[in-house]
Amino acid sequence: MHVHTAVVPAAGMGTRFLPATKAVPKELLPILDTPALQLVIDEAVGAGVDHMVIVTSHAKPAIEAYFEPSPEVLAKLRDTGRAVMADRLESIGRDVRVSFAYQDEALGLGHAVGCAREAVGDEPFAVLLPDELMGTSALLDQMARLCERTGGSVVGLKEVPHDEVDRYGVIDPVGAPDADGVVAVRTLVEKPKPEDAPSDLIVIGRYVLTPDVFERIAEVRPGAGGEIQLTDALRAQAESGPFHGVVGRVRRHDTGNPFGWLTAVVDLALDDADIGAPLRDWIEHRLANGPDVG
Ligand code: G1P
Repeated sequence: MHVHTAVVPAAGMGTRFLPATKAVPKELLPILDTPALQLVIDEAVGAGVDHMVIVTSHAKPAIEAYFEPSPEVLAKLRDTGRAVMADRLESIGRDVRVSFAYQDEALGLGHAVGCAREAVGDEPFAVLLPDELMGTSALLDQMARLCERTGGSVVGLKEVPHDEVDRYGVIDPVGAPDADGVVAVRTLVEKPKPEDAPSDLIVIGRYVLTPDVFERIAEVRPGAGGEIQLTDALRAQAESGPFHGVVGRVRRHDTGNPFGWLTAVVDLALDDADIGAPLRDWIEHRLANGPDVG
């Protein structure tokens, strides 16, 4: 079945990015001129999704405000000849159906996905963690096709240095990934100690899940960190049916902390047609000469 819904968990408090996130949700922090949330929506739409379910909290009204029409700003832009930006603003929340679900208690990623159950319905769906930016829809698209073909859930993967595995969900692969990066998954474990980790292949924040995951989530007891872990629900799926991972050839940035956010912004800016070249010149000048106090 075609994957047409994507869930974006966006209820977190963004404590790694305080005080910026005291009033502005981290999902709305700009990557150049575009909120991180919009970039993951664009990624999902690029993979064929036409329904976004944003899991937010009543403490973050700015998330919903982002999707509301802004007639005064639009009128001003049109009056002053900025039609391209006006069209862009007008399409927010219109080029794709947006629903909201609420998670008002920080009970974990599995719980957050579970909050989207009613909005998703009984079909396969994608999950995109908005802390992570990929810059391409290719991985999600490949994952969705694989889910359609195998009838089982699929996770996005990346190989990391062995001493970093304890920050992530880690898979136990059946053999090595094939030429397309596809590998069958025997089981998964959340944040293992490096000596206990079954591989160096970590789950990045992209998932395409079959809807039975909602029953699995309902059965999960609090795991690592006292939270309802999505990984624990996925383990139950992997141990009872087809389950695959796809090793992505993607640039992946964790924008949930200041350093990762900054590298994401610089990486995208260096590729930008307008500011890439001047930014490169500025950085080279800055590194060669130190701060310009003249
Ligand atoms: C979550 C998941 C973990 C995954 C990670 C990717 O962890 O629980 O399995 O590897 O996202 O970023 P968190 O970053 O919420 O601790």
